[in-house]
Amino acid sequence: MATATRVLRREHQSIRQVLNFAEGLSMKIDRGEHTSPEVVDKVMSFFRLFVDRCHHSKEEDVFFPMLESKGVRAWGGPLGMMLMEHERARALIQEMSEAAEAYKTDEEAAGKRWARAAWDYSGLMQEHFGKEEDVLFRMADNVLGPEEQATIAADFAKLENEKLGPGKYEELETMMKELIVQNGSR
Ligand SMILES: [Fe+2]
Repeated sequence: MATATRVLRREHQSIRQVLNFAEGLSMKIDRGEHTSPEVVDKVMSFFRLFVDRCHHSKEEDVFFPMLESKGVRAWGGPLGMMLMEHERARALIQEMSEAAEAYKTDEEAAGKRWARAAWDYSGLMQEHFGKEEDVLFRMADNVLGPEEQATIAADFAKLENEKLGPGKYEELETMMKELIVQNGSR
């Protein structure tokens, strides 16, 4: 059965693969090795759409409010910390997006800028996922009953459609799987 925490954990696994790939890419670009801007653009689409617009919205619009209604404190507690990290992640996505645009015409300086932001983003997210899994999802598994877990999972499916449009969720995951296979996972 699809439960809220299973869906989020599965997405973390999928996102981790792309973060590892982006780390490898950032080291390569930082060394000055040429990388097609198209590869960088694909990574950015995944971060912007799959991670920020979809995954973080599932947490912010559905999952966190449900936990709050169950007595998990929003501010000053684990939820507040998670929200702050989402904001930091958004700022890094913005920084990476600007650098990725500039990378098309100015490989060296913009490449280094992208590499730095991508490295920071990956570090932040990997740590953030660890905290969510070890603290928040465990808490959720204790306070949410099976029906609530299933209801949230159904709301997640609806949200995917609203935020990304039909079929886009699978399309983004497939695009990244193919990109990683083509370029090596490093
Ligand atoms: Fe999160």
